[in-house]
Amino acid sequence: MASSAAGCVVIVGSGVIGRSWAMLFASGGFQVKLYDIEQQQIRNALENIRKEMKLLEQAGSLKGSLSVEEQLSLISGCPNIQEAVEGAMHIQECVPEDLELKKKIFAQLDSIIDDRVILSSSTSCLMPSKLFAGLVHVKQCIVAHPVNPPYYIPLVELVPHPETAPTTVDRTHALMKKIGQCPMRVQKEVAGFVLNRLQYAIISEAWRLVEEGIVSPSDLDLVMSEGLGMRYAFIGPLETMHLNAEGMLSYCDRYSEGIKHVLQTFGPIPEFSRATAEKVNQDMCMKVPDDPEHLAARRQWRDECLMRLAKLKSQVQPQ
Ligand code: NAI
Repeated sequence: MASSAAGCVVIVGSGVIGRSWAMLFASGGFQVKLYDIEQQQIRNALENIRKEMKLLEQAGSLKGSLSVEEQLSLISGCPNIQEAVEGAMHIQECVPEDLELKKKIFAQLDSIIDDRVILSSSTSCLMPSKLFAGLVHVKQCIVAHPVNPPYYIPLVELVPHPETAPTTVDRTHALMKKIGQCPMRVQKEVAGFVLNRLQYAIISEAWRLVEEGIVSPSDLDLVMSEGLGMRYAFIGPLETMHLNAEGMLSYCDRYSEGIKHVLQTFGPIPEFSRATAEKVNQDMCMKVPDDPEHLAARRQWRDECLMRLAKLKSQVQPQ
């Protein structure tokens, strides 16, 4: 299969996120070269990907139109970064979240790549202007931030450096679509990008409500899993507004004053004090004890739920 692959993608860093990217690119028919500073990590990744793909096949959830063996034949390990990037169209960096380490790797890649390949970082919160500052190939650089676990959650935030070429954004957008992910464009870099800004706004108010004794931690979580989250799996907050009245303008006419009134009662940024953290932890541990086995089992259950939800979404929202 490798000879008829759609193109070659290099993964730099074969940990949790690197492995997921490898599976996604192989599902789209791309040849994938896995690089890591630790040889054992590459071996572990290849082994782990094989197991994971078999399980996905059994569950009927393997992505793409190729069989497991065809997809696996597209993925190989490469212990030498220079060899790995030769002829690549896209490099996806997935090393730990450490600005200096990432900058070192981008400087190294910058010195060995051609003018066509895209250099993309999986960073969750490092700013593109810091990551790619001073690189010769800065026009080809972009952040493509996935959401964990990327195989089940399709969103990818694309965040350009101020000097990133529009064609780099367009090509990365098209590539993400090709592998079945759902890219969105962050027009200008901002701390936390968009996903984490929304997530932190929710965490912030959740924390305040619990800290002030207005709601218990488990009941707070119910508000999301049995309430807001039910529709947020299908429509966002802005469309929710649009549908909850006779369109957005009517919603704002009816409800904006009330919203502003409530927003004025929001408190300051929480301190995330130890006392509140312990209180929340106590409630969380009643449901999921915080030992590795229980946490792993709950994560597996979460991933199964996400897999089923993805199937449902593909039935109700044909692409
Ligand atoms: P990880 O710790 O699982 O994997 C990192 C890998 O990079 C390891 O295999 C390590 O050996 C390798 N590595 C370290 N130094 C290297 C070097 N100089 N050259 C090549 N490989 C090197 O980390 P994880 O969780 O996969 O995160 C990777 C990136 O993805 C981070 O920037 C993180 O913020 C981002 N991310 C993580 C998410 C998560 O939930 N885990 C979600 C979205 C993004």
